[in-house]
Amino acid sequence: MADAPTGDSKATAYPIRVLALGGSTRAESSGGHALRLAAEGARVAGAQTEILSGRALMFPLYDTETPERDDAVRAMVDAVRRADGLIVVSPGYHGGISGLVKNALDYIEDLRDDPRPYLEGRAVGCIAVAHGWQAAVTTLHQIRQVVHALRGWPTPFGAAVNSSLVRLSDVTPDDPVVDQLHLVGRQVVEFARMRRAAEGLMP
Ligand SMILES: Cc1cc2nc3c(=O)[nH]c(=O)nc-3n(C[C@H](O)[C@H](O)[C@H](O)COP(=O)(O)O)c2cc1C
Repeated sequence: MADAPTGDSKATAYPIRVLALGGSTRAESSGGHALRLAAEGARVAGAQTEILSGRALMFPLYDTETPERDDAVRAMVDAVRRADGLIVVSPGYHGGISGLVKNALDYIEDLRDDPRPYLEGRAVGCIAVAHGWQAAVTTLHQIRQVVHALRGWPTPFGAAVNSSLVRLSDVTPDDPVVDQLHLVGRQVVEFARMRRAAEGLMP
């Protein structure tokens, strides 16, 4: 589902905007829960967050042969363009990023001619959720590689969540995984702040 942008009292006239996208088409997607927890970390750190998850990402297959885009795709590309940072969550499907999430990321190609092309200058919090450690870790690596290819900055801390060991729908605030997911969101905001500060200081 797509959530409206939210913020908190720390939001200023120039808020740090974080776009969180990913999860799966399942109603109780664990990736969707991970996305929300990481977005919560970004929000507590002072960012305005927007969430695009699950079925909100059911876009047509990315087609190099046409510039036509439907409204949902245009909205996502605009949200990426506006964002100071992103959070990307994918389930591990057969050891890698799901088609749903990769297809959404393929549309970032539409930012190639922007003044700030692709994911340039943006931190991206990377999170993978799979039924076992192997796919959780290989999928996390893949997300980082895609972010690098798009000129983004993967957060130093990435989260690999094993959904056979933790049920993200039922976690309590003191579960270690909550801290880990919050940390991913917080690091996206920290990077965006550092970048803004550097832009202000450099001649
Ligand atoms: C098509 C498909 C392929 C999957 N492949 C793997 C896999 O290779 N390794 C693994 O540990 N889990 C695999 N899973 C399980 C999911 O990664 C796991 O259930 C995850 O928590 C699903 O995320 P979701 O709750 O957001 O849908 C697969 C699930 C599906 C539907």
